[in-house]
Amino acid sequence: MKYIYIKTWGCQMNEYDSSMIAKYLEKTNQYTITKNSKEADILILNTCSIREKAQEKVFHQLGRWRKLKNKNPNIIIAVGGCVATQEGKSIFQRSKYVDIIFGTQSLHKLPKMIDEVEKYNKFVIDISFPKLEKFQKSLPIKNNGYTAFVSIMEGCNKFCSFCIVPYTRGREISRISDDILFEIENLSKNGVKEINLLGQNVNSYQSFNHKGKSCSFSQLLRLVSEINGIERIRFTTSHPFSFTDDIIEVYKDTPKLVSFLHLPVQSGSNKILKRMKRLYTTEEYEKIIEKLLIVRPNIQISSDFIVGFPGESREDFKKTINFIKKINFDMSYSFIYSNRPGTPASKMKDETDINEKKERLYQLQDCINRQTMSWSRKMLGSIQSILVEGISKKNLNQLYGKTENNRIVSFYGSSKKIGQFVQVKINKIHTHSLEGILI
Ligand code: SAH
Ligand code: SF4
Ligand code: F3S
Repeated sequence: MKYIYIKTWGCQMNEYDSSMIAKYLEKTNQYTITKNSKEADILILNTCSIREKAQEKVFHQLGRWRKLKNKNPNIIIAVGGCVATQEGKSIFQRSKYVDIIFGTQSLHKLPKMIDEVEKYNKFVIDISFPKLEKFQKSLPIKNNGYTAFVSIMEGCNKFCSFCIVPYTRGREISRISDDILFEIENLSKNGVKEINLLGQNVNSYQSFNHKGKSCSFSQLLRLVSEINGIERIRFTTSHPFSFTDDIIEVYKDTPKLVSFLHLPVQSGSNKILKRMKRLYTTEEYEKIIEKLLIVRPNIQISSDFIVGFPGESREDFKKTINFIKKINFDMSYSFIYSNRPGTPASKMKDETDINEKKERLYQLQDCINRQTMSWSRKMLGSIQSILVEGISKKNLNQLYGKTENNRIVSFYGSSKKIGQFVQVKINKIHTHSLEGILI
C-alpha cells in the first residue's frame, strides 16, 4: 500500500473532485489516503485560481513539498485543478520537481498517470477536456453519512468579465438525468437524506435521460424530490440570469427544496453589473426574489459580492449597500476584486486605491453581519427541522446539525438521533451558530 495525501483549495466542486480522486485511487487497491503529508508517497494538490492569492498559495505549498521530496526523491507530486488547467506546462518550468499535472476534467486518468511516472520516471501532463467522460467515470460521493453532493453539470458559458472559471472548467456540460437519479437512489438506500446538487451554474442544466427525453433543471429538481428517503434538497450555485419561472414554481409545490437560496448578485449597481457582464439588472434580480417570496414567504437569500471592481465609484458601492439592505440578504461571501490574467476585466482601468477597497469590503461585511444576526434573532424561539450530523466538537455531550438556512445548531440528545431529522426549539444565538432544545 502506498500513502496518498490530498490537499484541496477552492469551491465545493474542487472538494467533490478531490473525493473522487481518492475514490479512483483507492479502487485500485494500491493506495490508501493519509491525513499526514509527511508519510505520503504521493502528494496531490487540487488547486483554485479564482483569485490571485489562491494561485500564489500553490507555489508556496509546492515549495514546502519540495523539502519532503529532497529527503525522499521517490515521492510523486501531482498538481491538479484550476491552476493546473490554466497554467499547464508552465508549472513544470516554475517547479521542476512536480511530476504530474492534471486538469479539472482528467481526474479519472490519475491512477494511470501515476503508473507512468513510476514506470518510466517521466513528467506526465493531461489538461484536456474530453466531453462527458468525467461524468461517465464518476463514482458516488458521501459527504458525511447523511448528506451528499451530486455533480449535475460542470463548466460555464457565461464568461463574466472578471472570472477565470470558464477557462479552467470549460464549457457547460450536463450529466444524463437518469445517471444522476440512479446515483441519488443508491445514496438514499445507504442512508443519505440530504442532497446538494452541484455545478458552476446548476440552473443552466439541460440534459436528457437514456431514452433521449429532455430534462431541465426544474424537471430534475422534481424528479429528485420523488426519490424515497431524500428529504432535503439544496443546490450550489445558481445564476440570476437563468433563474426562470419554472424553477420558482418548484418552490411552490416541493417542500423538500429548502427555503434558502444562494443567488450571487455581485453588485448593487447596474453600471457595474453591465461591466461585469452579469446579464441582469438589480431590478431583474429583485423581481426573482419578489416571485420567490410569493411562493415561499420564509425564504432566505445569500449572495456573493465583489467590491472594488474596475470603475466602481463610491456611488456604485453605496448602491450595493442599499441593495443589501433592500433584499435583506441573510449571509454572503464577499471579496475584493482580483485581476485574473486573460479575462476581459483585466484590461479595464482599475483606479481605486487598495485601502479604499479594503474599507468597502469591511463596510459591506459589517452590514451583512448585522443582517445575519438579525435573521438569527428572528429564529429565537422558533422550531427548526435539523438533520443531525454528529456529536458536537465543542461539547461531546451535545449533538449538532444544520437548519434549512445552513445554521449549525447544537443541542442535547441521544446519539441514536444521528442521521435523522429532529425538531429543535432555538433558545440561544451566537454569531455563527445557534443552540436549542430537542422537542
Ligand atoms: N458561478 C457562480 C460563482 C462562482 S465563483 C456565479 O456566477 O454566481 C465564486 C465567487 O467568486 C463569485 O461569485 C465571485 O463573487 C467571486 N469571484 C470570481 N472571480 C473573482 C475575481 N476575479 N475577483 C474577486 N472575486 C471573484
Ligand atoms: Fe464565473 Fe460568471 Fe461563470 Fe459564475 S457565471 S462561474 S462568475 S463566469
Ligand atoms: Fe476555484 Fe476552480 Fe472552483 S477556480 S472556485 S476551484 S472552479
